Amino acid sequence: MSWHNGLRAKILFDEPLSKHTTLRVGPKAGLWIEPYDVKALRSVLRKAKTNKKGYLVIGFGSKLLIKKKKISLAIHLGSANFKRCIARGTDIIAGAGAALSKLIRTAYEHNLGGLEFLSGIPATVAGAVMLNAGVSWPKRIELGSFVSGLKVMDRNGKVKNLGRKDLSFGYRSSNLKDYIILGVKFKLGKRKKMFIKSRMQRFRNYRLKTQGLRLHSAGCIFKNPDGQSSGRLIDLCGLKGRRIGDALISNKHANFIVNRGKASSADILALIRLTQEEVKMRFKVNLEPEIQVI
Ligand code: EPU
Repeated sequence: MSWHNGLRAKILFDEPLSKHTTLRVGPKAGLWIEPYDVKALRSVLRKAKTNKKGYLVIGFGSKLLIKKKKISLAIHLGSANFKRCIARGTDIIAGAGAALSKLIRTAYEHNLGGLEFLSGIPATVAGAVMLNAGVSWPKRIELGSFVSGLKVMDRNGKVKNLGRKDLSFGYRSSNLKDYIILGVKFKLGKRKKMFIKSRMQRFRNYRLKTQGLRLHSAGCIFKNPDGQSSGRLIDLCGLKGRRIGDALISNKHANFIVNRGKASSADILALIRLTQEEVKMRFKVNLEPEIQVI
């Protein structure tokens, strides 16, 4: 009998992870498991541990490049129980697997403002909080500053509630890496719908103008080095349009790598290395990837 028999979860076999990353690359996951609820997730973790199965927790895969040839187990919190967004007063309680678009819509419907800067970012609530998603225009705003509490599960299946004092957020980072986020409480402010809508449009338009949203990418590939823009440095190296296989440095924003169709993880990695070398040679700056490479 297989170790995963009897789990209360949707289970897929040999699931192509290219379907679950925004760069549209990745190997197959031997097992793709979507537990129905927190209890089922705990069973998955415990059974995986007993059977010595490593696992990858994956949201919308928007900051992920997998170079491994195979992932044996991928866990995705995509069932209805993990996708709820509920407004209570000026708080929103959101499930880990809810899309940011749903979070923003719920906020808008309840006249709650603050999260408009997330418009157009293809991520789950958990992924965006884990990486402290943010913008630098027109000023630095980050999701972590709106988080007032979290429900997480540790790798042994124990559920914990974390409060503000337990949390620390940095530039595209958090102290949550060892946990699986189950749900997040956001503290927002009362705003007029018109105000929220126009801010959402402003952020979305800025993204459309400077980045484009339609092509397969992982957003910015590199973090910005202190006080500088990686996109600008890469652009100054003349790398826009540089191509390896079907991986291309975007002509619109040089910190974006685009999959033109059939790029492999190896093509993208090669383009990342080439970019790092050129920027290092010309500006003596080390570019650190913002995406997770595994
Ligand atoms: N620039 C160029 N050439 C380029 C790209 C940018 O010269 O190819 C210049 C721009 O003209 C501008 C400056 O560089 O003067 C900064 O560019 P931009 O406003 O696009 O911001 P960024 O620093 O490149 C950051 C975040 C983005 C976020 C934008 C908008 C990082 C690594 N990137 O980009 O986040 O959307 O600000 O607020 O912090 C992401 O994390 O995936 C991401 C896209």
